[in-house]
Amino acid sequence: MRVPLLDVKAQNAPLRESILAAVAKVVDAGAFILGPEVEAFEKELAARLGARRAVGLSSGTDALLVALMALGVRAGDEVVTTPFSFYATVGCVARLGARPVFADIDPKTFNLDPAAAAAACGPRTRALMPVHLFGRPASLPAVPVPVVEDSAQSIGACRLGGMASCLSFFPSKNLGAMGDGGALVTDDEAFADKVALLRAHGGKPKYVHHLVGGNFRLDAVQAAILRVKLPHLAAWTAGRRRNAERYRRLFAAASLPGEVVLPEDTPAHIYNQFVIRAPRRDALREHLRKHEIGTEVYYPLALHLQPCFADLGYRPGAFPAAERATAEALALPIYAELGEEQQSYVVEKIVAFYREGS
Ligand SMILES: Cc1ncc(COP(=O)(O)O)c(C=O)c1O
Repeated sequence: MRVPLLDVKAQNAPLRESILAAVAKVVDAGAFILGPEVEAFEKELAARLGARRAVGLSSGTDALLVALMALGVRAGDEVVTTPFSFYATVGCVARLGARPVFADIDPKTFNLDPAAAAAACGPRTRALMPVHLFGRPASLPAVPVPVVEDSAQSIGACRLGGMASCLSFFPSKNLGAMGDGGALVTDDEAFADKVALLRAHGGKPKYVHHLVGGNFRLDAVQAAILRVKLPHLAAWTAGRRRNAERYRRLFAAASLPGEVVLPEDTPAHIYNQFVIRAPRRDALREHLRKHEIGTEVYYPLALHLQPCFADLGYRPGAFPAAERATAEALALPIYAELGEEQQSYVVEKIVAFYREGS
């Protein structure tokens, strides 16, 4: 048996005709930049997420960047965030010349530890950026600074009521485009207007530039595809949650050794990834690869130890919980179309690895 980490084709195949028809509509209309498809998608997305506004953007990365730009984050400012995330979370802070300030994670949730995050806030803090990692909502401390949520992996998981929630439609996300895409969701109309202005070079009317923005637009073709896919998001998320439950049941029945820790459930978890903690993680991964089971390490190197952030001066040991997670975390296949037989096979091979020691 072969079990890939993700099978985007299985998700897209039943929608093939509707997607091609939606793309054909855009081609026939000849409106490729913003326009009616993007506007309609923004309305449908905001309604689906119970937010006042959604602004379609070119990627999750650009959603984070433009959120910080709209808050006026610049050189000399600090942004408090997690050292255990995808690089983009912190890259956006550094690209604006601001300083990322890290706080350690809660080892149980892989998310920012709220007390550590509060302690990291100081007089120069301009924003707090929690990441709802793997689809699990982070809990937040009460801090007197705007909150920009990195919700790239957690569409539809509860919103915390921050200033902005930034989404990614990278194809592996619960709602995936057929290329890059992202959005910023907010209840603040003025903030949404500012983000919309920044995404088109700050120009309004055209060629009169009030703000220094960029080209952060969502493509009309991607918006049209996302409009076909959005109505299925709830079912796909339910499928991921069902599969998470099934892993729990299968692992319990197979007497998984105590050292392996499954992710704790919470009703809002949307399982963009199902990440276990595994001793001898790399050897386990190799064992699973030999049995044609796809896994991934999110993330093998903490952000405070990335070579590009060496000038921030962090040393190994600064954030022990995050560093330990980089050595133990392993993502297993969890996509909605995964079958029970495939999951049983994954569980069987993991249990055999620990029982037989290889
Ligand atoms: C936590 C996190 N932040 C930001 C991003 C960036 O999103 P994108 O790839 O759409 O730029 C991603 C995903 O790739 C992510 O997982």
